[in-house]
Amino acid sequence: MSKSSRLAVLSAGVLALVFASAGMIAAAPKATKQNAHAEAAKPLGIGREAKPEEIAGWDIDIRPDGQGLPPGKGTVKQGEAIYMQQCAACHGEFGESAGRWPIVAGGAGTLATHDPVKSVGSYWPYASTVMDYIRRAMPFGNAQSLTNDELYAVTAYVFYLNDIIQDEHFELNANSFKSIKLPNERNFRDDDRDVTEKSLWRKSPCMNNCLPGAARITGRARAIDVTPEPGKGPKVE
Ligand code: HEC
Repeated sequence: MSKSSRLAVLSAGVLALVFASAGMIAAAPKATKQNAHAEAAKPLGIGREAKPEEIAGWDIDIRPDGQGLPPGKGTVKQGEAIYMQQCAACHGEFGESAGRWPIVAGGAGTLATHDPVKSVGSYWPYASTVMDYIRRAMPFGNAQSLTNDELYAVTAYVFYLNDIIQDEHFELNANSFKSIKLPNERNFRDDDRDVTEKSLWRKSPCMNNCLPGAARITGRARAIDVTPEPGKGPKVE
């Protein structure tokens, strides 16, 4: 079965589930709430249960602690060959981008500057983010065509291009994966505002008509130079 027809079958099933659980399947007009629920619980005779292999096709996320990593392995050296064949045409031989495709390397130390350059090496948080992304989305236009071994190898090569792995004989696998730390990881934090800002919250926040009187304009984007007048903005090269 092709991926798209699998998707269709699966989503029909999911839709049936959603409607059924929302109680949106037609119940007899005079039905009480209770027997409407009983109606909704009846099998509808459409769709079918998703097969384990169909679920596996969707369940491809990889988490920072390595959960979800597929079996497989690949070295930087093996990844180089795959990268040159399947990635370099867009991302450049060194990850510097060919034309206007996104870069996949570079930008180290630029995040706090006027012109931050975000790449796998300079910005991305976890090794898993990179591997998960490549696994589900690349090569662009032919997504999910890489074997697991190719995925490990080419991900290792992307880390190599970013100086995160130095040794071209390094083998990336589920075990060595845990040794890969991206430089910007420490700048990603959990949202802790429910603790750190809790003292600033009102006990009963106003939810309607909160502003007494008519609204007043107190500032304009132009005044703070968001939209400079022609010729007055900063010079653009
Ligand atoms: C046809 C051009 C093309 C090819 C070939 C290609 N990519 Fe991409 N790649 C893209 C585009 C376009 C994006 C951005 C997609 C988006 O933002 O939705 C991207 C994004 C990425 C990113 C994220 C970059 C970032 O910082 O946002 C990585 C990593 C990546 N590609 C790796 C690969 C790898 C590895 C291969 C080879 C297996 C590959 N790509 C092949 C076009 C391509």
